[in-house]
Amino acid sequence: SVKIVTIGGGSSYTPELIEGFIKRYDTLPVRELWLVDIEAGRDKLETVGALAKRMVEKAGVPMKIVLSYDRREALKDADFVTTQMRIGRLPARILDERIPLSHGMIGQETNGAGGMFKAFRTIPVILDIVKDIQELCPNAWLINFTNPAGMVTEAILRHTNFKKTIGLCNVPVNMVAGFAKMLGVEEKDVTMEIQGVNHFIFATDVFVNGESRFQELLDKYAHLSAEDTIQMKNFVSLPYSPAFIEGLGAIPCPYHNYYFFTKEQLEEELEQFKTGTVRGEVVSETEKELFELYSHEELAEKPKQLEMRGGAKYSDAACNLIQSIYNDTGDIQYVNVRNNGTILDLPADSAVEVACRITADGPKPLATGELKLPISGYVHMIKAFERMTIEAAVSGDRNLAVAALNLNPLCPSDELANIVVDELLEAHKEYLPQF
Ligand code: G6P
Ligand code: MN
Repeated sequence: SVKIVTIGGGSSYTPELIEGFIKRYDTLPVRELWLVDIEAGRDKLETVGALAKRMVEKAGVPMKIVLSYDRREALKDADFVTTQMRIGRLPARILDERIPLSHGMIGQETNGAGGMFKAFRTIPVILDIVKDIQELCPNAWLINFTNPAGMVTEAILRHTNFKKTIGLCNVPVNMVAGFAKMLGVEEKDVTMEIQGVNHFIFATDVFVNGESRFQELLDKYAHLSAEDTIQMKNFVSLPYSPAFIEGLGAIPCPYHNYYFFTKEQLEEELEQFKTGTVRGEVVSETEKELFELYSHEELAEKPKQLEMRGGAKYSDAACNLIQSIYNDTGDIQYVNVRNNGTILDLPADSAVEVACRITADGPKPLATGELKLPISGYVHMIKAFERMTIEAAVSGDRNLAVAALNLNPLCPSDELANIVVDELLEAHKEYLPQF
Protein backbone atom coordinates (compact mmCIF):
# COMPACT_ATOMS: atom_id res chain seq x y z
CA SER A 1 0.00 0.00 0.00
CA VAL A 2 1.16 3.47 -0.87
CA LYS A 3 1.49 6.59 1.25
CA ILE A 4 1.77 9.90 -0.58
CA VAL A 5 2.51 13.30 0.94
CA THR A 6 1.71 16.44 -1.05
CA ILE A 7 3.39 19.62 0.17
CA GLY A 8 1.41 22.68 -0.85
CA GLY A 9 -1.73 20.55 -0.61
CA GLY A 10 -3.97 23.63 -0.38
CA SER A 11 -3.22 24.49 -4.01
CA SER A 12 -6.19 24.93 -6.35
CA TYR A 13 -4.56 22.22 -8.49
CA THR A 14 -5.08 19.50 -5.86
CA PRO A 15 -8.40 18.18 -7.33
CA GLU A 16 -6.38 17.28 -10.46
CA LEU A 17 -4.17 15.03 -8.41
CA ILE A 18 -7.05 13.47 -6.52
CA GLU A 19 -8.82 12.68 -9.79
CA GLY A 20 -5.61 11.15 -11.13
CA PHE A 21 -5.17 8.87 -8.12
CA ILE A 22 -8.84 7.84 -8.12
CA LYS A 23 -8.67 6.87 -11.83
CA ARG A 24 -5.59 4.73 -11.25
CA TYR A 25 -6.56 3.16 -7.94
CA ASP A 26 -6.52 -0.41 -9.37
CA THR A 27 -2.83 -0.22 -10.32
CA LEU A 28 -1.73 2.40 -7.79
CA PRO A 29 -3.53 1.79 -4.48
CA VAL A 30 -2.94 5.04 -2.60
CA ARG A 31 -4.13 4.17 0.91
CA GLU A 32 -3.09 7.45 2.50
CA LEU A 33 -2.76 10.85 0.96
CA TRP A 34 -1.49 13.58 3.28
CA LEU A 35 -2.16 17.14 2.15
CA VAL A 36 0.26 19.46 3.92
CA ASP A 37 0.24 23.24 4.04
CA ILE A 38 1.37 26.09 6.27
CA GLU A 39 -0.92 27.70 8.85
CA ALA A 40 -1.32 30.79 6.66
CA GLY A 41 -2.91 28.53 4.05
CA ARG A 42 -5.44 26.98 6.41
CA ASP A 43 -8.55 28.31 4.64
CA LYS A 44 -7.49 26.94 1.29
CA LEU A 45 -6.38 23.57 2.64
CA GLU A 46 -9.61 23.06 4.59
CA THR A 47 -11.71 23.86 1.52
CA VAL A 48 -9.79 21.82 -1.02
CA GLY A 49 -9.26 19.01 1.52
CA ALA A 50 -13.01 18.73 2.13
CA LEU A 51 -13.57 18.52 -1.64
CA ALA A 52 -10.87 15.84 -1.90
CA LYS A 53 -12.67 13.78 0.76
CA ARG A 54 -15.99 14.10 -1.08
CA MET A 55 -14.34 13.06 -4.37
CA VAL A 56 -12.85 9.94 -2.81
CA GLU A 57 -16.08 9.03 -1.08
CA LYS A 58 -18.14 9.44 -4.24
CA ALA A 59 -15.66 7.30 -6.20
CA GLY A 60 -15.83 4.65 -3.50
CA VAL A 61 -12.07 4.13 -3.18
CA PRO A 62 -10.57 3.43 0.27
CA MET A 63 -8.10 6.33 0.10
CA LYS A 64 -7.65 8.12 3.40
CA ILE A 65 -7.14 11.88 3.05
CA VAL A 66 -5.32 13.52 5.96
CA LEU A 67 -4.93 17.30 6.27
CA SER A 68 -1.83 18.45 8.12
CA TYR A 69 0.03 21.61 9.11
CA ASP A 70 2.98 19.62 10.40
CA ARG A 71 5.25 18.61 7.54
CA ARG A 72 7.46 16.42 9.70
CA GLU A 73 4.58 14.44 11.13
CA ALA A 74 3.19 13.94 7.61
CA LEU A 75 6.46 12.82 6.02
CA LYS A 76 7.00 9.85 8.31
CA ASP A 77 7.28 6.67 6.19
CA ALA A 78 6.02 8.27 3.00
CA ASP A 79 6.59 6.37 -0.25
CA PHE A 80 6.22 9.40 -2.51
CA VAL A 81 6.44 13.09 -1.70
CA THR A 82 5.11 15.59 -4.20
CA THR A 83 5.86 19.30 -3.90
CA GLN A 84 3.62 22.00 -5.39
CA MET A 85 4.02 24.89 -2.96
CA ARG A 86 4.34 28.52 -4.05
CA ILE A 87 6.47 30.59 -1.69
CA GLY A 88 4.84 34.00 -1.25
CA ARG A 89 1.77 32.76 -3.15
CA LEU A 90 0.25 34.64 -6.07
CA PRO A 91 1.08 38.14 -4.76
CA ALA A 92 4.79 37.26 -5.08
CA ARG A 93 4.22 35.98 -8.61
CA ILE A 94 2.50 39.22 -9.57
CA LEU A 95 5.55 41.18 -8.36
CA ASP A 96 7.81 38.87 -10.42
CA GLU A 97 5.73 39.80 -13.43
CA ARG A 98 5.03 43.48 -12.82
CA ILE A 99 8.42 44.75 -11.60
CA PRO A 100 10.39 43.65 -14.69
CA LEU A 101 7.54 44.87 -16.93
CA SER A 102 7.59 48.29 -15.25
CA HIS A 103 11.09 48.58 -16.79
CA GLY A 104 10.09 47.17 -20.17
CA MET A 105 11.51 43.70 -19.47
CA ILE A 106 9.55 40.43 -19.81
CA GLY A 107 8.03 39.37 -16.49
CA GLN A 108 7.25 35.66 -16.33
CA GLU A 109 6.92 32.94 -13.71
CA THR A 110 9.76 30.72 -14.93
CA ASN A 111 11.74 32.78 -17.44
CA GLY A 112 14.08 35.74 -17.08
CA ALA A 113 13.98 37.88 -13.92
CA GLY A 114 10.71 36.37 -12.64
CA GLY A 115 11.99 32.81 -12.93
CA MET A 116 15.19 33.83 -11.21
CA PHE A 117 13.37 35.27 -8.20
CA LYS A 118 10.99 32.33 -7.97
CA ALA A 119 14.12 30.18 -7.76
CA PHE A 120 15.54 32.42 -5.02
CA ARG A 121 12.39 32.05 -2.91
CA THR A 122 11.96 28.34 -3.50
CA ILE A 123 15.42 26.78 -3.38
CA PRO A 124 16.15 27.38 0.34
CA VAL A 125 12.73 25.93 1.22
CA ILE A 126 13.10 22.82 -0.94
CA LEU A 127 16.55 22.16 0.54
CA ASP A 128 14.95 22.19 4.01
CA ILE A 129 12.21 19.84 2.86
CA VAL A 130 14.83 17.44 1.51
CA LYS A 131 16.58 17.45 4.91
CA ASP A 132 13.31 16.33 6.50
CA ILE A 133 12.79 13.66 3.84
CA GLN A 134 16.28 12.27 4.40
CA GLU A 135 15.52 11.95 8.08
CA LEU A 136 11.90 10.81 8.05
CA CYS A 137 11.35 8.89 4.78
CA PRO A 138 14.77 8.39 3.17
CA ASN A 139 13.47 5.79 0.73
CA ALA A 140 10.73 7.98 -0.67
CA TRP A 141 10.76 9.45 -4.16
CA LEU A 142 10.48 13.22 -4.33
CA ILE A 143 8.51 14.47 -7.30
CA ASN A 144 8.72 18.23 -7.63
CA PHE A 145 6.26 20.38 -9.61
CA THR A 146 7.20 23.67 -7.95
CA ASN A 147 8.63 26.06 -10.50
CA PRO A 148 11.14 26.72 -11.81
CA ALA A 149 11.06 22.91 -11.85
CA GLY A 150 14.38 22.42 -13.65
CA MET A 151 16.40 24.73 -11.38
CA VAL A 152 14.71 23.38 -8.26
CA THR A 153 15.64 19.82 -9.30
CA GLU A 154 19.22 20.81 -10.06
CA ALA A 155 19.56 22.60 -6.71
CA ILE A 156 18.60 19.38 -4.91
CA LEU A 157 20.93 17.25 -7.03
CA ARG A 158 23.90 19.56 -6.54
CA HIS A 159 23.39 20.74 -2.98
CA THR A 160 22.23 17.58 -1.19
CA ASN A 161 23.13 13.92 -1.51
CA PHE A 162 19.49 12.92 -1.99
CA LYS A 163 19.27 11.19 -5.35
CA LYS A 164 15.66 10.06 -5.55
CA THR A 165 14.41 13.35 -6.92
CA ILE A 166 12.53 13.97 -10.16
CA GLY A 167 11.31 17.26 -11.64
CA LEU A 168 8.06 17.27 -13.53
CA CYS A 169 6.32 19.49 -16.06
CA ASN A 170 3.30 19.16 -18.34
CA VAL A 171 4.91 20.76 -21.40
CA PRO A 172 6.29 17.48 -22.84
CA VAL A 173 2.91 15.68 -22.57
CA ASN A 174 1.30 18.63 -24.33
CA MET A 175 3.86 18.35 -27.13
CA VAL A 176 3.21 14.62 -27.50
CA ALA A 177 -0.52 15.30 -27.71
CA GLY A 178 0.03 18.01 -30.35
CA PHE A 179 2.34 15.84 -32.45
CA ALA A 180 -0.07 12.88 -32.29
CA LYS A 181 -2.82 15.12 -33.62
CA MET A 182 -0.63 16.44 -36.44
CA LEU A 183 0.33 12.93 -37.50
CA GLY A 184 -3.20 11.59 -37.08
CA VAL A 185 -2.15 8.87 -34.62
CA GLU A 186 -2.91 8.04 -31.00
CA GLU A 187 -1.02 9.76 -28.21
CA LYS A 188 -0.03 6.48 -26.62
CA ASP A 189 1.90 5.48 -29.76
CA VAL A 190 4.01 8.64 -29.88
CA THR A 191 7.38 9.12 -28.19
CA MET A 192 9.94 11.89 -28.59
CA GLU A 193 13.61 12.52 -28.21
CA ILE A 194 14.00 15.90 -26.53
CA GLN A 195 17.06 17.97 -25.68
CA GLY A 196 17.19 20.91 -23.31
CA VAL A 197 16.08 22.07 -19.90
CA ASN A 198 12.66 22.67 -18.34
CA HIS A 199 10.57 25.16 -20.37
CA PHE A 200 13.42 25.21 -22.90
CA ILE A 201 13.25 21.86 -24.70
CA PHE A 202 13.41 21.02 -28.37
CA ALA A 203 12.02 17.87 -29.98
CA THR A 204 14.91 16.41 -31.95
CA ASP A 205 13.13 13.24 -33.08
CA VAL A 206 9.56 11.91 -32.92
CA PHE A 207 8.55 8.27 -33.21
CA VAL A 208 5.28 6.45 -33.87
CA ASN A 209 5.46 2.93 -32.46
CA GLY A 210 9.23 3.27 -32.38
CA GLU A 211 9.64 4.41 -35.97
CA SER A 212 10.86 7.94 -36.68
CA ARG A 213 8.36 10.20 -38.45
CA PHE A 214 10.37 13.32 -37.74
CA GLN A 215 10.94 14.55 -41.30
CA GLU A 216 7.23 14.38 -42.05
CA LEU A 217 6.40 16.12 -38.78
CA LEU A 218 8.95 18.89 -39.39
CA ASP A 219 7.39 19.56 -42.80
CA LYS A 220 3.94 19.82 -41.25
CA TYR A 221 5.18 21.88 -38.31
CA ALA A 222 6.91 24.34 -40.65
CA HIS A 223 3.55 25.19 -42.23
CA LEU A 224 1.30 25.23 -39.17
CA SER A 225 -1.52 27.73 -38.96
CA ALA A 226 -1.96 29.82 -35.84
CA GLU A 227 -4.90 27.71 -34.64
CA ASP A 228 -2.95 24.44 -34.95
CA THR A 229 0.06 25.73 -32.99
CA ILE A 230 0.64 23.79 -29.76
CA GLN A 231 -0.53 25.98 -26.90
CA MET A 232 -0.25 26.05 -23.14
CA LYS A 233 -3.19 27.72 -21.39
CA ASN A 234 -1.15 30.49 -19.77
CA PHE A 235 0.14 32.41 -22.82
CA VAL A 236 -0.22 32.41 -26.61
CA SER A 237 2.47 30.82 -28.80
CA LEU A 238 2.78 32.24 -32.31
CA PRO A 239 3.49 30.00 -35.33
CA TYR A 240 7.07 30.00 -36.62
CA SER A 241 8.11 30.72 -40.17
CA PRO A 242 8.74 27.70 -42.44
CA ALA A 243 12.30 28.96 -42.94
CA PHE A 244 13.05 28.94 -39.22
CA ILE A 245 11.76 25.40 -38.61
CA GLU A 246 13.38 23.98 -41.72
CA GLY A 247 16.68 25.69 -40.97
CA LEU A 248 16.58 24.65 -37.31
CA GLY A 249 15.72 21.00 -37.94
CA ALA A 250 14.21 20.75 -34.44
CA ILE A 251 10.84 21.67 -32.92
CA PRO A 252 10.84 24.29 -30.16
CA CYS A 253 8.49 23.96 -27.15
CA PRO A 254 5.64 26.45 -26.53
CA TYR A 255 7.75 28.41 -24.00
CA HIS A 256 10.22 29.31 -26.74
CA ASN A 257 7.72 31.98 -27.70
CA TYR A 258 9.42 34.14 -25.03
CA TYR A 259 12.75 33.79 -26.83
CA PHE A 260 11.88 33.67 -30.55
CA PHE A 261 9.01 36.16 -30.36
CA THR A 262 10.39 38.33 -27.56
CA LYS A 263 9.20 41.57 -29.14
CA GLU A 264 5.62 40.37 -29.68
CA GLN A 265 5.46 38.70 -26.27
CA LEU A 266 6.69 41.85 -24.58
CA GLU A 267 4.11 44.00 -26.39
CA GLU A 268 1.39 41.62 -25.25
CA GLU A 269 2.62 41.67 -21.65
CA LEU A 270 2.94 45.45 -21.56
CA GLU A 271 -0.71 45.64 -22.57
CA GLN A 272 -1.57 43.25 -19.70
CA PHE A 273 0.57 45.37 -17.39
CA LYS A 274 -1.49 48.45 -18.28
CA THR A 275 -4.85 46.75 -17.84
CA GLY A 276 -4.01 44.87 -14.64
CA THR A 277 -4.24 41.50 -16.37
CA VAL A 278 -0.75 40.01 -16.08
CA ARG A 279 -1.01 36.23 -15.70
CA GLY A 280 -0.77 36.24 -11.90
CA GLU A 281 -3.65 38.72 -11.74
CA VAL A 282 -5.80 36.62 -14.06
CA VAL A 283 -4.96 33.49 -12.09
CA SER A 284 -5.88 35.21 -8.79
CA GLU A 285 -9.38 35.77 -10.18
CA THR A 286 -9.62 32.19 -11.47
CA GLU A 287 -8.51 30.95 -8.05
CA LYS A 288 -11.21 32.94 -6.28
CA GLU A 289 -13.82 31.39 -8.56
CA LEU A 290 -12.35 27.92 -8.09
CA PHE A 291 -12.36 28.11 -4.31
CA GLU A 292 -15.90 29.43 -4.40
CA LEU A 293 -16.89 26.34 -6.39
CA TYR A 294 -14.83 24.00 -4.18
CA SER A 295 -16.71 25.18 -1.12
CA HIS A 296 -20.07 23.87 -2.43
CA GLU A 297 -20.90 20.76 -0.50
CA GLU A 298 -22.64 19.10 -3.41
CA LEU A 299 -19.51 19.29 -5.57
CA ALA A 300 -17.64 15.96 -5.54
CA GLU A 301 -15.53 16.08 -8.70
CA LYS A 302 -12.91 18.19 -10.41
CA PRO A 303 -14.70 21.21 -11.90
CA LYS A 304 -14.20 21.96 -15.59
CA GLN A 305 -12.96 25.48 -14.81
CA LEU A 306 -9.68 24.06 -13.48
CA GLU A 307 -8.74 23.45 -17.11
CA MET A 308 -8.26 27.23 -17.46
CA ARG A 309 -4.97 26.88 -15.61
CA GLY A 310 -1.69 26.33 -17.43
CA GLY A 311 -1.03 23.19 -15.42
CA ALA A 312 -4.17 21.43 -16.63
CA LYS A 313 -3.41 17.75 -17.25
CA TYR A 314 -0.38 17.84 -14.97
CA SER A 315 -2.00 15.17 -12.81
CA ASP A 316 -1.72 12.78 -15.73
CA ALA A 317 2.00 13.41 -15.90
CA ALA A 318 2.38 13.12 -12.11
CA CYS A 319 0.18 10.10 -11.56
CA ASN A 320 1.59 8.23 -14.57
CA LEU A 321 5.08 8.79 -13.23
CA ILE A 322 4.24 7.47 -9.76
CA GLN A 323 2.29 4.58 -11.21
CA SER A 324 5.20 3.56 -13.46
CA ILE A 325 7.73 3.67 -10.61
CA TYR A 326 5.40 1.67 -8.39
CA ASN A 327 4.72 -0.98 -11.07
CA ASP A 328 8.18 -0.93 -12.69
CA THR A 329 6.59 -0.49 -16.11
CA GLY A 330 9.60 0.75 -18.12
CA ASP A 331 7.50 3.05 -20.32
CA ILE A 332 8.87 6.34 -21.67
CA GLN A 333 8.11 9.62 -19.90
CA TYR A 334 9.76 13.04 -19.94
CA VAL A 335 11.22 14.28 -16.69
CA ASN A 336 13.97 16.42 -15.15
CA VAL A 337 16.87 14.29 -13.97
CA ARG A 338 20.63 14.39 -13.48
CA ASN A 339 22.16 14.63 -16.95
CA ASN A 340 24.92 12.09 -16.46
CA GLY A 341 25.95 12.17 -20.12
CA THR A 342 22.43 11.94 -21.55
CA ILE A 343 23.22 15.20 -23.37
CA LEU A 344 26.93 14.74 -23.90
CA ASP A 345 28.01 18.36 -23.95
CA LEU A 346 26.14 19.56 -20.83
CA PRO A 347 27.64 19.13 -17.34
CA ALA A 348 27.02 15.65 -15.89
CA ASP A 349 25.65 17.10 -12.64
CA SER A 350 23.10 19.39 -14.29
CA ALA A 351 19.37 18.74 -14.46
CA VAL A 352 18.06 18.19 -17.99
CA GLU A 353 14.55 17.46 -19.27
CA VAL A 354 14.77 14.31 -21.38
CA ALA A 355 12.99 11.09 -22.32
CA CYS A 356 13.46 8.36 -19.70
CA ARG A 357 12.33 4.78 -19.17
CA ILE A 358 10.51 4.78 -15.85
CA THR A 359 11.43 1.83 -13.65
CA ALA A 360 11.11 0.89 -9.97
CA ASP A 361 14.68 2.11 -9.68
CA GLY A 362 13.68 5.51 -11.09
CA PRO A 363 13.96 7.19 -14.48
CA LYS A 364 16.61 5.79 -16.84
CA PRO A 365 17.39 8.56 -19.36
CA LEU A 366 17.82 7.63 -23.02
CA ALA A 367 21.11 8.92 -24.44
CA THR A 368 20.73 11.73 -26.99
CA GLY A 369 24.35 12.45 -27.95
CA GLU A 370 25.59 16.00 -28.29
CA LEU A 371 23.17 18.93 -28.55
CA LYS A 372 22.15 19.49 -32.15
CA LEU A 373 24.33 22.33 -33.35
CA PRO A 374 21.64 24.96 -34.10
CA ILE A 375 20.19 24.74 -30.58
CA SER A 376 23.40 24.10 -28.69
CA GLY A 377 24.51 27.68 -28.09
CA TYR A 378 21.12 28.73 -26.78
CA VAL A 379 20.74 25.73 -24.47
CA HIS A 380 24.25 26.32 -23.07
CA MET A 381 23.41 29.96 -22.41
CA ILE A 382 20.23 29.08 -20.52
CA LYS A 383 22.04 26.38 -18.56
CA ALA A 384 24.71 28.90 -17.50
CA PHE A 385 21.95 31.29 -16.38
CA GLU A 386 20.36 28.46 -14.38
CA ARG A 387 23.60 27.44 -12.71
CA MET A 388 24.45 30.99 -11.71
CA THR A 389 20.90 31.50 -10.43
CA ILE A 390 21.13 28.37 -8.28
CA GLU A 391 24.49 29.50 -6.88
CA ALA A 392 23.05 32.91 -6.08
CA ALA A 393 19.96 31.32 -4.47
CA VAL A 394 22.19 29.34 -2.12
CA SER A 395 24.85 31.98 -1.38
CA GLY A 396 22.72 35.14 -1.49
CA ASP A 397 25.26 36.82 -3.75
CA ARG A 398 23.64 39.86 -5.37
CA ASN A 399 26.39 40.35 -7.95
CA LEU A 400 25.95 36.80 -9.16
CA ALA A 401 22.24 37.55 -9.56
CA VAL A 402 22.99 40.67 -11.63
CA ALA A 403 25.47 38.78 -13.81
CA ALA A 404 23.05 35.88 -14.31
CA LEU A 405 20.25 38.21 -15.37
CA ASN A 406 22.59 40.06 -17.73
CA LEU A 407 23.45 36.78 -19.44
CA ASN A 408 19.78 35.97 -19.95
CA PRO A 409 18.53 36.84 -23.45
CA LEU A 410 15.36 38.41 -22.00
CA CYS A 411 17.40 41.16 -20.27
CA PRO A 412 18.07 44.12 -22.58
CA SER A 413 20.58 46.15 -20.51
CA ASP A 414 23.09 45.92 -17.67
CA GLU A 415 21.64 49.05 -16.08
CA LEU A 416 18.17 47.45 -16.03
CA ALA A 417 19.58 44.19 -14.68
CA ASN A 418 20.87 46.09 -11.64
CA ILE A 419 17.65 48.03 -11.15
CA VAL A 420 15.33 45.04 -11.55
CA VAL A 421 17.41 42.81 -9.26
CA ASP A 422 17.43 45.46 -6.53
CA GLU A 423 13.71 46.16 -6.78
CA LEU A 424 12.84 42.47 -6.68
CA LEU A 425 15.22 41.85 -3.75
CA GLU A 426 13.47 44.63 -1.85
CA ALA A 427 9.95 43.56 -2.82
CA HIS A 428 10.51 39.92 -1.80
CA LYS A 429 12.81 40.48 1.18
CA GLU A 430 10.61 38.62 3.67
CA TYR A 431 11.10 35.44 1.58
CA LEU A 432 14.80 35.96 0.87
CA PRO A 433 16.69 35.56 4.17
CA GLN A 434 19.79 34.40 2.28
CA PHE A 435 20.37 37.85 0.72
C1 G6P B 1 2.38 25.43 -17.57
C2 G6P B 1 3.72 25.09 -17.02
C3 G6P B 1 3.70 25.04 -15.53
C4 G6P B 1 3.14 26.33 -14.98
C5 G6P B 1 1.77 26.61 -15.55
C6 G6P B 1 1.28 27.98 -15.15
O1 G6P B 1 1.57 24.35 -17.45
O2 G6P B 1 4.23 23.88 -17.49
O3 G6P B 1 5.02 24.85 -15.10
O4 G6P B 1 3.06 26.25 -13.58
O5 G6P B 1 1.78 26.54 -16.93
O6 G6P B 1 -0.09 28.05 -15.26
P1 G6P B 1 -0.93 29.21 -14.58
O7 G6P B 1 -2.35 28.89 -14.84
O8 G6P B 1 -0.57 29.22 -13.11
O9 G6P B 1 -0.48 30.46 -15.26
MN1 MN C 1 6.08 23.45 -16.38
